[in-house]
Formats: sequence, structure tokens, C-alpha cells
Amino acid sequence: MDSDFHDITLSVNGKQYQRRVESRLLLSDFIRHDLALAGTHVGCEHGVCGACTVLLDGDSARACLMFAVQADGRGVETVESLGRIGQMNALQESFHEHHALQCGFCTPGMLMTATDLLRKYPLATDDDIRKGLSGNLCRCTGYEHIVKAIRAVVDKGHQRP
Ligand code: FES
Ligand code: FES
Repeated sequence: MDSDFHDITLSVNGKQYQRRVESRLLLSDFIRHDLALAGTHVGCEHGVCGACTVLLDGDSARACLMFAVQADGRGVETVESLGRIGQMNALQESFHEHHALQCGFCTPGMLMTATDLLRKYPLATDDDIRKGLSGNLCRCTGYEHIVKAIRAVVDKGHQRP
């Protein structure tokens, strides 16, 4: 086999995939182009904006800072795992109700980071939420609404994602 290519097996949103990938292929490009899961956005491509955030074995990770081969044998969750139009989960509903998106470019990354936070931490204060989101940038500067949306999920005792 050409050493620039690798056979990988991974789970994405609970589905198993086997693919042959180039060594240099970024995980973000693999998810978007090879798997056609375009909900994961790509902004800066150098780890600054958080738009490409996915969960890797349950922990948030920048898909633009990883190669697809590094996800071999692991479990990835993308924004498509949360819900869909007509079947949104509580976090997505809350983003909708609290106007927590404007252009929506940062939204997949915000939702995946928030999912990680809601699973792991009590988020007792808004500061806890802000600190948790500090690695995600919103160019539309809608931060207050995003914090309110996550706060509402915590306060209303909705089922956490
Ligand atoms: S696209 Fe990955 S952090 Fe900006
Ligand atoms: S809603 Fe536009 S970048 Fe956040």
C-alpha cells in the first residue's frame, strides 16, 4: 500500500466507517467531504475559532487540528448527531428560542462545545458557561444570547444532550 495512504475505521455519530485516507487529510475535511457531513464548519483552520469543534471519544476537539488518521479506532460526534429540523434536541431548541445565532457560522461549534459542557459540568453560573465557551468565537458577537440559551437548558432541567 502507498505509505501516503492509510486504512482507517472509526465511528461517526454511531455509524461505523472504513475509508482509505491520505496522511495529510484533516479530520475536518474528512468529515465534510468524505462523509458529506457539512454541519461541521471550517473557519480559521488553525485552531483559533472553534467552528470545527466535534466530540472525540466524548471530549471536544478541533477537527481542523487533527488528521483523519488520528481518529482511527475512535468515536466522533458531529453536530448532525444532535437532532434535525422538526426533531431538535433541547439545546438546539433553546438556541432557537433565545436567538442564539445570527449568521449561524459558529453555531455547530458552539453547540458541540455546549454539549460537552452540559454533559460534564453543573454550569452553576453564567461565568462557568462563558469560560467553557471561551475557545469559540462568534463573528456576529451574539455571545449573550448563546449564554442565555445554555443557561435555560440548565435552569429548566431539560434533559442534557
Ligand atoms: S476552523 Fe478549526 S478552530 Fe477554526
Ligand atoms: S452567529 Fe455569526 S459567527 Fe456566530
